[in-house]
Amino acid sequence: MISINVNGQKRPVDVEPDTPLLWVLRDNLGITSVKYTCGIAECGICTVLIDGEAQRSCVVSVGEVLESEITTVEGLPANHPVKVAWIEKQVPQCGYCQPGIMLQTVDLLARMPNPTEEQINDEMDNVICRCGSHPKIKEAIRFAAEMTARQGG
Ligand code: FES
Ligand code: FES
Repeated sequence: MISINVNGQKRPVDVEPDTPLLWVLRDNLGITSVKYTCGIAECGICTVLIDGEAQRSCVVSVGEVLESEITTVEGLPANHPVKVAWIEKQVPQCGYCQPGIMLQTVDLLARMPNPTEEQINDEMDNVICRCGSHPKIKEAIRFAAEMTARQGG
């Protein structure tokens, strides 16, 4: 039995250390906001935060993150600027890609609090929304950045 730290809680899981984190989160812990799509680090839909950094959980083994803090979208408080912005701008269509893209945004704004349109395009270019919600995603990223700035960072 090994344990991982997810959303502030230590969670024991009975898996082999080389099991992909994606499957442990979904199948062992029931955190189904973390979605599977390509399984080869191409789409970004399975993104979680590992020690605050956006990473693709389909290609991270659970054994690599035993000492890390893993955050899924459930771990963001309801008043987190990214959650508020996503609701305010009504971003999701089917919603499938959104948890991963929201976490990618948290990472983006931590590194670039006031991203230019070009920087947003570059960062979001490699996350795939098959519903085509990218225009709304960009609006929401701007809104979250402005909200964060108003709150003093
Ligand atoms: S499912 Fe992990 S990047 Fe596509
Ligand atoms: S909202 Fe449907 S895949 Fe992005």
